[in-house]
Amino acid sequence: MNIIKVKDTQMGGKEAFKIVKDDIENNGAKVLGLATGSSPITLYNEMTSSDLDFSNMTSVNLDEYVGLKPDNEQSYHYFMNEHLFNKKPFKNSYVPDGSNPDAEAATKAYDKIIEENPIDLQILGIGRNGHIGFNEPGSPLDGTTRKVGLTESTIEANTRFFEDEKDVPRFAYSMGIGSILKAKKIILLAYGENKADAIAATVDGPVTEDCPASALQNHPDVTLIIDDAAASKL
Ligand code: GLP
Repeated sequence: MNIIKVKDTQMGGKEAFKIVKDDIENNGAKVLGLATGSSPITLYNEMTSSDLDFSNMTSVNLDEYVGLKPDNEQSYHYFMNEHLFNKKPFKNSYVPDGSNPDAEAATKAYDKIIEENPIDLQILGIGRNGHIGFNEPGSPLDGTTRKVGLTESTIEANTRFFEDEKDVPRFAYSMGIGSILKAKKIILLAYGENKADAIAATVDGPVTEDCPASALQNHPDVTLIIDDAAASKL
């Protein structure tokens, strides 16, 4: 794995943007895999303030809460509109359909979308327990899109975005780890002390379902962009 250490999230956004820009301009990347959470925000700010044009490109997001419609302010769909798509529209932007209660149909439809739009560059954050997308510890390392139950630690971490803990959805549709690993290139962004254990397990630990992000060791082109605090246990 390639590791780029940065002093803060601003610099992380700039470093990630350089890779995104290079991949689009020099490698012909057409499909971006995108993530939510606080970690990619500075990258999205770089993208929206750049002169890059995404109107010929496709984006495929990692996950969505089950039960939330795109116009719900807590949905990942809404987050993407706010932080990126309203300012820089893509030709097609896909997010799993959290409003579809039929998990079988929703996840199958999303796998078809991923198959038809192979991801050139996947952006990832990481959960404190090493989850990527919403693939919590114990998720199959070769999985496709699934309905997943969120762990207590993830519910607690995500409570900050909701008025009350009981409002945090307990389930999500998430791209699987197998699908994530099919991306040609992957950038993982992590900042802060509370990501240090997950980053150490991702980089130096065994490849195990206990730390879903450790599966990235099996991918040939992964760049971690991390600050000193997230790197402190390496
Ligand atoms: C959520 C998302 C993940 C994200 C993680 C970390 O659980 N499903 O995709 O990586 O949060 O979020 P943050 O970047 O805010 O720490």
